[in-house]
Amino acid sequence: MSVSDHAMPIGFLTCPGTHPGSPVRRDDAYEHDLQVDALRPALAALGHELVEIDWRSPVEAFADMPLVLVGTPWDYQDAERAFLDQLDTLEAAGHIVCNSSAVVRWNASKTYLRDLERRGVATIPTDWAQAPDISDILFAMEKFGNDTVVAKRQVGAGAEGQSIHHRAKLDPLWCMEQPAMLQPFLPQIQSDGEYSFLFVEAEFSHALRKRAAPGDYRVQSIYGGMEEPFEPSSADRAAAQAVIDAVPFDAPLYARIDMVRGSDGGLLVMEAELIEPFLYPTQGPRLGVMLATAIDRRLCQ
Ligand SMILES: Nc1ncnc2c1ncn2[C@@H]1O[C@H](COP(=O)(O)OP(=O)(O)O)[C@@H](O)[C@H]1O
Ligand SMILES: [Mg+2]
Repeated sequence: MSVSDHAMPIGFLTCPGTHPGSPVRRDDAYEHDLQVDALRPALAALGHELVEIDWRSPVEAFADMPLVLVGTPWDYQDAERAFLDQLDTLEAAGHIVCNSSAVVRWNASKTYLRDLERRGVATIPTDWAQAPDISDILFAMEKFGNDTVVAKRQVGAGAEGQSIHHRAKLDPLWCMEQPAMLQPFLPQIQSDGEYSFLFVEAEFSHALRKRAAPGDYRVQSIYGGMEEPFEPSSADRAAAQAVIDAVPFDAPLYARIDMVRGSDGGLLVMEAELIEPFLYPTQGPRLGVMLATAIDRRLCQ
């Protein structure tokens, strides 16, 4: 690699929970460090310096950063409007934001799954409900022909606010006070796990499998989920590629496509994570260089 003649600081958005040295750093901020450790040397090899910067910083603080990565602003859900406004402000001031404000807006509500479905992607059957109660759960059970239904927020992450309902033990008082989505429970999540496919500008980097802890169905590490290596078949890779190719924007700089097996063995999209996904750099040794190369290319354009 040669050092390019347009060496520049690259912003990496953080929040108090992830910023290095912050007194309120979260226990899982090591994921921030892993991502930065993968990217910083790869950018440095091209002459660029990665600079961690709190997303709430005044726009002037970004003045010398032509490109800003939506890194680990993990508290944006608590201030979504302000966060989206900040991305807009940065773009209006001439900064390249990755992923772009438009992509982030589209991806902030899981209703984007409807767009992917319309574009031919295999999705999990979903019933969309504004503020569901137990009658919606019963309706979904009939519609899906399934006695177990998962209820999730349309805007959410980390399985927060999520619940599972079995026909034999329904809570008649259950309700959700925000826009929700109801899906049949896919038992493959427990028998086979969930897959993550990492892409840089729609080019495949690596994949891994996540398994839930015994007795749980959520694969997230906070619930005891574990990752394991996974070498996808060409069919599985094509299924993930079809999701990224269906995103209705130019290829995003980075993407994590989460998938689960349907009853016919084919992969269905669980989520297309385009905002601030953990990119599992440890499992993907090429990731840092792929990202740095793509960033460098964007700076040249
Ligand atoms: N329909 C489903 N069937 C089985 N497990 C599910 C289903 N939907 C979600 N899950 C489990 O819950 C987790 C969180 O759901 P997900 O849709 O990925 O939302 P988020 O990660 O944004 O909270 C998934 O990783 C999976 O383990
Ligand atoms: Mg998820």
